[in-house]
Amino acid sequence: MTNIAVFGTGYLGATHAACMAELGHDVLGVDVDESKLAKLESGEVPFYEPGLEEVLKRNIGTGRLRFTSSYEEAASFADVHFVGVGTPQKKGEFAADVTYVDAVIDGLAPLLTRPAVIFGKSTVPVGTAERLGRRARALAPAGAEVDLAWNPEFLREGFAVQDTLHPDRLVLGVDREGPGRAEEVAREVYADLLAEKIPFIVTDLATAELVKTSANAFLATKISFINAMSEVCEAAGADVTVLADAIGHDDRIGRRFLNAGVGFGGGCLPKDIRAFMARAGELGADQALTFLREVDAVNMRRRTRMVEMAREACGGSLLGARVAVLGAAFKPESDDVRDSPALNVAGQIQLQGATVTVYDPKAMDNSRKLFPTLGYATDVSQAVEGADVVLVLTEWRQFRELQPGRVGPLVRQRSIIDGRNCLSPKGWREAGWVYRGMGRS
Ligand code: UDX
Repeated sequence: MTNIAVFGTGYLGATHAACMAELGHDVLGVDVDESKLAKLESGEVPFYEPGLEEVLKRNIGTGRLRFTSSYEEAASFADVHFVGVGTPQKKGEFAADVTYVDAVIDGLAPLLTRPAVIFGKSTVPVGTAERLGRRARALAPAGAEVDLAWNPEFLREGFAVQDTLHPDRLVLGVDREGPGRAEEVAREVYADLLAEKIPFIVTDLATAELVKTSANAFLATKISFINAMSEVCEAAGADVTVLADAIGHDDRIGRRFLNAGVGFGGGCLPKDIRAFMARAGELGADQALTFLREVDAVNMRRRTRMVEMAREACGGSLLGARVAVLGAAFKPESDDVRDSPALNVAGQIQLQGATVTVYDPKAMDNSRKLFPTLGYATDVSQAVEGADVVLVLTEWRQFRELQPGRVGPLVRQRSIIDGRNCLSPKGWREAGWVYRGMGRS
C-alpha cells in the first residue's frame, strides 16, 4: 500500500483522498483552509455529495485517512502526491487561473528530499503539466527523481464516489523528460481498479490534459446541440424531448446528455470550454474552437429565454409579479451553485422587478451566500405560496414528483414552466395548469 498526499479538499480532492483510503492506501488530505480541515477531520463533508460521508468516516475510523495543513508533513509522509485544487476562470477573461496549482508545486517541491511522483488531477490548460514538471524538478532537492504526471479526473458531482472507484477509464500522461516511474506507481495505486479491467490509457502529458478538456467540450456541445434543436422546435411547434429520444436511439448519437432545458452550469463545463478556447488562441489554433463560442452562446441564450417565458407567463411584465423558483443547484444531487442556470435566471427575474422565492433541497446555504437579496423558502409550499408562475430549474426528484393537485391551491395562477423538461405536461394540464416546457409545445 502507498503513502499518498492529496492537495485540495474540494469536490475533487476530498473525494479522491477518501477513495484512495478506501482502496487501502494511507492518505493525508492537505488544504490551506483550516475550517474545511476541521470539518473533514470530524467526519463531516463540507459540501453535499451522496455517499462520501460514509467513505470518509469509515476511513478516518481505520486511521487510513488524516488531514493536515502542513506541506512539511505531507512531503515527509507521502511518496505519491495528487494535486486536486481548483482552476477557476480568471476574472474578466476566458482563461483558467492556475495559481492554486502553481502554489502547490512551489510549496511542495522544495520539501521533496526523496524520489516522489506528483500526479496532477486538476483540469488545466494544455502545456501546464510540462511546465510544472520542469519547475518541480528544478525546485526539489531530489531533483530529477521527482516525476510529474497528469491523471485527469472525470468524476461528476453527485456520483463522485462511484465515478472515482468505478471510472469509465483511467488516463495517465507521462513526462518523457521525467524519471519514468509514474506509470509503474500509478499501476500500484490503482491496482484494484485495473484488476476490474478498467481501460488504462497511457500517453504524453499534452494528450492527457487535452483528453479532459475535449471530453468536457464534447459534453457541453452535446447539450448545446439539443438546446439549439429546442429553439428550432419552439419555432416550429415540435417537441424536443421526443426528438431527443428518437435520435438517441441511434447508438452513434446516444440518448445521454441530450436533455434540453435551461442548459449547463457548474464549476466545470462553462469555465472549461472558455479556458479551452483561450488556450487554443494562445497556441494559434483559435479557429479550431470557434464553434465553442456558439456552444457557450446557445447555453446562455437558454437562460434569457427562460426569463422571457416567465415574463410572458406573467402577462408581459415581471414588475410586481411573484415568481417561485424550484431548484438552485446547477444540477440535482449537488449543493453546488457555481454558474448555476437556476440562480442566474432567478437573479435576472428579480432585476426585472419580481419578488422571487427560491427553494432547493440542498443548496440553500450556498445560494444565500451567492445571491443574498433573493427570497428563500423553507419548503416547496412556502416557495409557491401566492406565485404567479412556478419555475422548475433543477430536476430534483422532489420536484419531478410534485403533485399538481397539492400545489394548485397555494398559487395565485396555475402556471408552471418546466426548465428541465422533467414533468408530465399531460398531468399538469389535466389538473388545470398552464404548462410550458422548453422546446416542447
Ligand atoms: C462535468 C463532467 O460530466 C465530468 O465528467 C467532469 O469531470 C466535470 O464536469 P459535472 O459538472 O458534475 O460534471 O456535471 P454534469 O453532470 O456533466 O452536468 C453539467 C451541467 O449540464 C448541469 O448543469 C446539468 O444540468 C447540465 N445538463 C446535463 C443538461 O443541461 N443536459 C443534459 O443532458 C446533461
